[in-house]
Amino acid sequence: MKVLVTGGTGYIGSHTVVELLESGHEVVIVDNFSNSDSSVLDKISMITDKEFTFYEGDVCDKKFLEDVFSKEKINAVIHFAGYKAVGESVEKPLMYYQNNLGSTLALLEVMEANNVYNFVFSSSATVYGKPSTLPIKEDFPLSATNPYGYTKLMIEQILKDLSKSNDKWNIVLLRYFNPIGAHESGLIGEQPNGIPNNIMPYIMRVATGQYDKVHVFGNDYDTKDGTGVRDYIHVVDLANGHIKAIEYLIENGGLSIFNLGTGNGYSVLELIENVKKVNNVEVPYVIEDRRPGDIAACYADPSLANEKLGWKAERGIEEMCKDAYNFASKK
Ligand code: NAD
Ligand code: UFG
Repeated sequence: MKVLVTGGTGYIGSHTVVELLESGHEVVIVDNFSNSDSSVLDKISMITDKEFTFYEGDVCDKKFLEDVFSKEKINAVIHFAGYKAVGESVEKPLMYYQNNLGSTLALLEVMEANNVYNFVFSSSATVYGKPSTLPIKEDFPLSATNPYGYTKLMIEQILKDLSKSNDKWNIVLLRYFNPIGAHESGLIGEQPNGIPNNIMPYIMRVATGQYDKVHVFGNDYDTKDGTGVRDYIHVVDLANGHIKAIEYLIENGGLSIFNLGTGNGYSVLELIENVKKVNNVEVPYVIEDRRPGDIAACYADPSLANEKLGWKAERGIEEMCKDAYNFASKK
């Protein structure tokens, strides 16, 4: 199958392109490098030794997309392109609504015009807001507390409406928990610009000596050691979920929603301890106040994806910490 991957040079997109190529699919990547760079393309070639096509451009630009669809016989689309920093979305809401909604609307319109109806969307566990019980199932109530989260909720709604309007659409919404780690080659991984917001890239800056210490946001939550608990998932496991999702939507049609998580929660201190132990490095930390908007704990019930997609996260926390450091220490 020929799969168009938007945002395919980004963190999750690049790992998914590798897994698509390794499983025999043809890949067309589009990206505008707003949060990535062209070196990733060479890295994907080095890892896979396979050919793929790349177009540089903005997914909000319908003319650009029409050109891509006229040149390539696309069968399915995986849509990663978008902005993802929660704090930045609070400061620049228009930029977030414009890019995340604008790219999705343009893409769906051009797909429809070209009779391409197979679509996988990158949603997020952020759509569950503050869950009242754990683990989180797909039918839990949805809410958002920031513009980034609202873009995911709105796009989910758009896709639900679209699916109802025309049964030709085959759509899977994947709600990711917390992706960390990197490809085992150490060639691709997560490289945020500026100071990382997320915990693992921050821990990596400390482990590689670029920053002095990790700031742990709160140790008075009602969790095992008082620090925040999350469902960390290896990015390669997450990438593989997309291959299963493409196969599933072609066979089953309609709109389906799946959590992609491991079902296990680890605290911030457990994550730091694992990084230290597995890589034999120092990771000093200091306890700070809670970060506004954070929830105590969040982890998935991944049983629906296990059952329906035949997908299961296979890599444990130690492998995530090893691969993250392997990538961070090579840069
Ligand atoms: P990323 O920033 O590494 O990748 C996104 C890619 O999209 C980048 O390469 C960027 O240059 C590109 N891009 C952005 N806007 C574009 C546009 N208008 N046109 C063309 N290219 C554009 O992010 P990621 O971590 O790989 O996340 C991918 C998707 O998964 C995003 O939609 C994100 O919201 C979602 N998601 C990520 C996480 C996470 O923790 N990383 C969690 C849940 C959901
Ligand atoms: N944390 C720290 N110090 C830091 C950064 C984070 O202690 O420097 C803590 C947080 O308080 C939280 C945990 O580490 O307890 C994880 O925080 P992240 O920022 O790494 O991840 P979040 O769960 O807050 O959010 C991320 C994305 C969201 C997405 C969500 C679920 O930023 O967009 O995962 O996929 F919705």
